[in-house]
Amino acid sequence: MYGRVLPSIKEILHQSAIRLENVTPSPFKEASTLLAFSLRVDNLWLLSHDIDTIETPADFLENLKKREESYPLEYILKETSFYSRDFYTDDRVLIPRPETEILVEKVASICKNMQNITIAEVGTGSGIISVMLAILLPSAQIIATDISEDTLKVAIINAKRYDVQDKIEFVRCNLLDDVNKKIDVLVSNPPYIKKDEKLDKNLSYEPRCALFGGEKGDEILKQIIDETIQRGIKILACEMGYDQKEKIENHLANYNLKAEFYKDLAGIDRGFTVKR
Ligand SMILES: C[S@@+](CC[C@H](N)C(=O)[O-])C[C@H]1O[C@@H](n2cnc3c(N)ncnc32)[C@H](O)[C@@H]1O
Repeated sequence: MYGRVLPSIKEILHQSAIRLENVTPSPFKEASTLLAFSLRVDNLWLLSHDIDTIETPADFLENLKKREESYPLEYILKETSFYSRDFYTDDRVLIPRPETEILVEKVASICKNMQNITIAEVGTGSGIISVMLAILLPSAQIIATDISEDTLKVAIINAKRYDVQDKIEFVRCNLLDDVNKKIDVLVSNPPYIKKDEKLDKNLSYEPRCALFGGEKGDEILKQIIDETIQRGIKILACEMGYDQKEKIENHLANYNLKAEFYKDLAGIDRGFTVKR
């Protein structure tokens, strides 16, 4: 009677990478990350033990199947990187995007010499923007809103991770509806995709209220601009869709205001700042 022949780590990774070829540009790396996650080792350990034979972990096979169906790696690992730091993430929130680091940088740079200001963030999601601003601008007080209670739970986990929970007040509300304090700076990466836009499969796992900004997509952005004017807020910084520059320009022109627009690293229009 012969025992079952176990596969080597190398064989498991090779077979798994083939299954991920149509999902990601780095199938081998992702297969390694998933196996390392299941075995609770790091990628380097896997590479240096690749001739070892192992029982393929059941949770690895489950996660591989999810990933094969384009379920985001960040949701499986419950971890993502933003501004060179690790943040908790799960499918209650939008996965932070690298281009949003530019928005944080813009606000941090505009506010670096301003003391004791109040910054409000609309649509905080995983809390990455507010948490980073609390770290980068130690004298600022921050109010972070989101329409979703579930989302705020994730933001609070991240605020606690970086010990800035006392500097950020989390409020569940539409835009700034339940915020009465005087605000100096408003920042937002709101939902800005138009309602009927066809999305890649991987985006279908992210919360819809984090993605869709209305019939045309720019409705929430325009409401944020209106709110800025009504509240006399001096500085506004927002991320926006690649095709929304003209619409934002026109809306700001109603108030005789001009924005400074910025592009992301791919050279695509990505956001704007307004100083009044
Ligand atoms: C594009 S996500 C941004 C999340 C996070 N700030 C980031 O940059 O990764 C937009 C967020 O806005 C929230 N949201 C959508 N509509 C809102 C509204 N009317 N008022 C407040 N928050 C809203 C969503 O729940 C979601 O968390």
